[in-house]
Amino acid sequence: MDKILIRGGKSLKGVVEPSGAKNSALPILAATLLAEGESCIRNIPRLRDIDTFTYLLKHLGAQVTYREVEAGSETQTPWGDHRDPERRSPLPLLYVVTDSVNNFEAPYDLVRTMRASVLVLGPLLARFGRARVSLPGGCAIGARPINLHLEGLKQLGAEITLQHGYVEAKAGRLKGTDIYLDLPTVTGTENIMMAATLAKGRTVLQNAAREPEVVDLAEALNKMGARISGAGTQTLEIEGVPHLTRLDHTIMPDRIETGTFLVAAAITNGDIVIKNCRPEDLSAVIAKLQEAGVSIDQPGPTSLRVKRDGEIKAVNVKTQPYPGFPTDMQAQIMALMCLAKGSSVITETIFENRFMHVLELLRMGAQIQITGNTAVVTGVPKLSGAPVMATDLRASASLVLAGLAAEGETLISRVYHLDRGYEQIEEKLSRLGADISRIKDKG
Ligand code: EPZ
Repeated sequence: MDKILIRGGKSLKGVVEPSGAKNSALPILAATLLAEGESCIRNIPRLRDIDTFTYLLKHLGAQVTYREVEAGSETQTPWGDHRDPERRSPLPLLYVVTDSVNNFEAPYDLVRTMRASVLVLGPLLARFGRARVSLPGGCAIGARPINLHLEGLKQLGAEITLQHGYVEAKAGRLKGTDIYLDLPTVTGTENIMMAATLAKGRTVLQNAAREPEVVDLAEALNKMGARISGAGTQTLEIEGVPHLTRLDHTIMPDRIETGTFLVAAAITNGDIVIKNCRPEDLSAVIAKLQEAGVSIDQPGPTSLRVKRDGEIKAVNVKTQPYPGFPTDMQAQIMALMCLAKGSSVITETIFENRFMHVLELLRMGAQIQITGNTAVVTGVPKLSGAPVMATDLRASASLVLAGLAAEGETLISRVYHLDRGYEQIEEKLSRLGADISRIKDKG
């Protein structure tokens, strides 16, 4: 298993660009199951989770091919010209053909490595009328049940039973209906929305998730001929249509990667510009960092400039569904609060076990007290580098951030957690001046 070695103390300077959003690419790849023909998904992030999902699509019988096109090149596709001289090169893209899908099972060994595999449930049911998907089981950050996904699909007319750890689902043509979600579940909203696009009649989904990735998916589905309105609000309306057509879509920039770079600049006394991002997706994070004394402004509509101006003040953070402060940024801002002046109260309201990074931060000299779903962080003058272990995706990001600021060397093990959601993180950070390298596992 690879490790990442960081020698802390370097201030980050320069320009960086986030990759496509993992949590938008995954449901949009699932959406290609809803239509025949060759779909093209652009700005795909090169991540383990994407590899896992493309493996799953191939397992179902789809054909998936990966290509790279030079940004700004005359990439004439059947759907028109795609040039963007501003984009980094090369631009990764995936072609997906699902005409040959002949298997409807997402097996346990795939689902347990990536719970987002459950996103094939809605599309398989809607297009093929059947699906057998392993229950994901828990993960490091919590139990993460999918009961709300299943409830919604049942209300659309699916017959669903649980047998031997699998969801067995079948349906004739689904029927639109009114659904109220007990919780604004992100992938639950996505699964039900995808299924409803091919249902007969209208579906109104109340208390829907409002995350930008849900909006990106709705935009992609509407490009395929779906009739979805209200994306980004808590009430989605989906008018069912008889069929959808192939998709050509560019994945939105990753807002959590962007937020991670904002913290990286702040924690290292840096001054960086993040380009080709979407500041409007990060209002809560930007407001919270500005409250902590970080200077953030917008040189342009798709860029952010972030620099550290003097000391970081301790601020309180409470994670909420979008547009509140995202749970996926909680571990990262905690790393910053470890070096803030004063005490910060961080409350995690979304997942029941998302403080795994705390034990590792304590080993680097942080002062953190956990009581239930609340962590009280008392800022210290410095952190010291240490060997630490990544436990989940965003926890590993917080260890990288702490290592960038710590005195001495930090050696992070089990970085496969990091590779699930951050593309070439050490290259991007070293281009900004960080002393960071990957130690390949000889095994
Ligand atoms: C999505 O997970 C993201 N993953 C997560 O990102 C993110 O942390 C989470 O939303 C919250 O924003 C993807 O989009 C692939 P939820 P999801 O359903 O959809 C409970 C990352 O770091 N719940 O919104 O699985 C659940 O237990 C990952 O990139 C039920 O009780 O999250 C949790 O407490 C981590 N029953 C809460 O709702 C259900 O049927 C929110 O979960 C579904 C969810």
